[in-house]
Amino acid sequence: MAADDTDIRPVTWQDGAVRIIDQTALPGRLTYLELRTVAELIGAIQRLAVRGAPALGVAGAYGVALALLTDDRASIPALRAARPTAVNLAAGVDRASARIADGFEAVLAEAHAVLDEDLRANRRLSELGADWLLRRRSGRAEGDAEPRPLRLLTHCNAGALATAGWGTALGVVRELHARGLVEVVYVDETRPLLQGSRLTAWELARLGIPHLVQADGAAAGTIVSGSVDAAIVGADRIAANGDTANKVGTLGVALACAHADVPFLVAAPTSTVDLSTASGADIHVELRDEAEVLGWSGMAGQVAPPESRGHNPAFDVTPAGLVSALTTERGVVEIGRGELPGTLWGTRG
Ligand code: MRU
Repeated sequence: MAADDTDIRPVTWQDGAVRIIDQTALPGRLTYLELRTVAELIGAIQRLAVRGAPALGVAGAYGVALALLTDDRASIPALRAARPTAVNLAAGVDRASARIADGFEAVLAEAHAVLDEDLRANRRLSELGADWLLRRRSGRAEGDAEPRPLRLLTHCNAGALATAGWGTALGVVRELHARGLVEVVYVDETRPLLQGSRLTAWELARLGIPHLVQADGAAAGTIVSGSVDAAIVGADRIAANGDTANKVGTLGVALACAHADVPFLVAAPTSTVDLSTASGADIHVELRDEAEVLGWSGMAGQVAPPESRGHNPAFDVTPAGLVSALTTERGVVEIGRGELPGTLWGTRG
């Protein structure tokens, strides 16, 4: 796949190390870390230096290669469990682990395949998602007269940084932008770790896509006031019934979209669909350190009173009925109308 000057590769393998963009340093500095032990990789995953479901899948697969290279297979289960919600991490580890018997080169080749497949999937699901959105919005058939540019809203970061490259939700935005069909993107800042204002805004700025960062609490009002044509988000795990886990705050966006009859599109590769998880009730939502929510990014110490305790779920689960559609590289399923993700494989999930 041809690279261009906007291509971002958050996780690669280089000279016996997992090389990642340090996402904790963005948007201030674009710096890379070379992780040479599984312990270093686990630390980077847990402090979100590398993050986003598909990127975690690639990191997990390369982590198995690292485990073989450093003779540290005992760390593989801890790597697999480093973050529990995104199914891609465990899936990437399992995929690479299945090749251990064939040796290091086979494991590394499998990890490269996880990366390459995600890049291809992102491009395809972006095209399909853009086509679906334009059909849904205009009620016209594809190829008919000029639609007007869209006002979009996204939550968290589901861009190139969160994947092998290109992006899922931001991939759809990029595809629409390439067709001249983006007026503006409302970017939820995404408390507490600010993946929206730090990372999504950084990506959109690099791409020259007009955007407005807003507080998470502004999203419902922006949607209900009629300022948004569609919300597009990524996913960390999609259950067999279509319930979808994504960054905390996504459910509020979905509820506002349902109230205002605004399409709520989930963009994810099929590697994020987990047919072995029956419903959202079975998804393990990561609970993170209370310090993240009691304080404020960039301000030392705690903002809340010392007596206060924090509640910091990193994700929430949007019920299937609120998901207008899921776009994947295999096609689009209209989950809100009762279509199940399993149909993407030609079977009922
Ligand atoms: O905690 P994070 O930053 O890893 O959460 C990421 C998200 O919730 C993304 O929306 C999701 O992983 C999809 S990334 C294409």
